[in-house]
Amino acid sequence: MALRAGQLVIMPTETVYGLAADASNPEAVARIFEAKGRPRFNPLIAHVADAVEAESIAVFDSQARALAEAFWPGPMTIVAPVRARDRVCDLARAGLDSVAIRVPGHAKARAVISAFGGPVVAPSANRSGRPSPTTFADAVEETGASAGAAVDGGRCAVGVESTVVSVLDGKVSLLRPGSVTREDLEAVVGPLHESDQGHRSPGRLALHYAPDAPVTINATEAPTDGILLGFGEGVGDPRWSLSPKGDLREAAANLFRLLREADRTRPSAIWVSPIPTHGLGEAINDRLRRAAGFVG
Ligand code: TXA
Ligand code: MG
Repeated sequence: MALRAGQLVIMPTETVYGLAADASNPEAVARIFEAKGRPRFNPLIAHVADAVEAESIAVFDSQARALAEAFWPGPMTIVAPVRARDRVCDLARAGLDSVAIRVPGHAKARAVISAFGGPVVAPSANRSGRPSPTTFADAVEETGASAGAAVDGGRCAVGVESTVVSVLDGKVSLLRPGSVTREDLEAVVGPLHESDQGHRSPGRLALHYAPDAPVTINATEAPTDGILLGFGEGVGDPRWSLSPKGDLREAAANLFRLLREADRTRPSAIWVSPIPTHGLGEAINDRLRRAAGFVG
């Protein structure tokens, strides 16, 4: 099988497509950084079959356990102290003493992981700095040339990358917002620790998820040679609407695909309607600010 041979595999997940490799094999992991043009200081997420396997790799306290119980399998990643360093190699962790780990919900991701029988690291399958792929065709276009195999799982249901939460020294911090919202997390572990960790999380570079055309957020109309990605009824051309009915889940699922499709028409610029900031809106606005070149 490709993973065991140290090759890369395009793997669908419920969030975005990943570019997967054997987490314990430094040469395979090096191929990921090369294929994506990703800076080596930016660590990867290890994908595992279940919470028991997660706890064999990372040290979970009672809060991490409660989060795993509440949201796995699903679109949430836990950063916790590493227990088994060799199972997620140093290069994959960027030399950190912590490890990011998640149990994906997508049936085909689960099948890949269980067929392989160990942790699989998988960053989003885009080249570094580009929007994450949410369709099979977009994933193949981005990094297919570097993959030994590719699994078609259809369109990703969630459309934005997993929520990343760190549980370190008894403190729970939100490092990257996602479809498991701040409110969802707080319902399980209480108020989150407010820190600047979000800015220190190695992967949170300012210009990220960016298409080629310049992106302007919180726009109400676009000039005729630009495209407006609307939100809500009667806003802009319905073909370019993130969600005609103003639904945040639908908008998240359409976000990266529509950014890519808009970009392909070579517009002078891409304009995006204001998106509410509550719930999943925090993750959508986070990705849009980065696409527009602002520091989150
Ligand atoms: O939904 C997802 O999470 C997708 C799918 C394929 O599972 N994967 C994904 O991976 O988005 P990637 O590599 O694009 O994003 C991983 C994020 C980065 O922001 C990285 O800096 C952060 O997780 N991360 C990984 N390990 C970390 C650690 N030990 N401490 C802090 N942040 C960490
Ligand atoms: Mg990524």
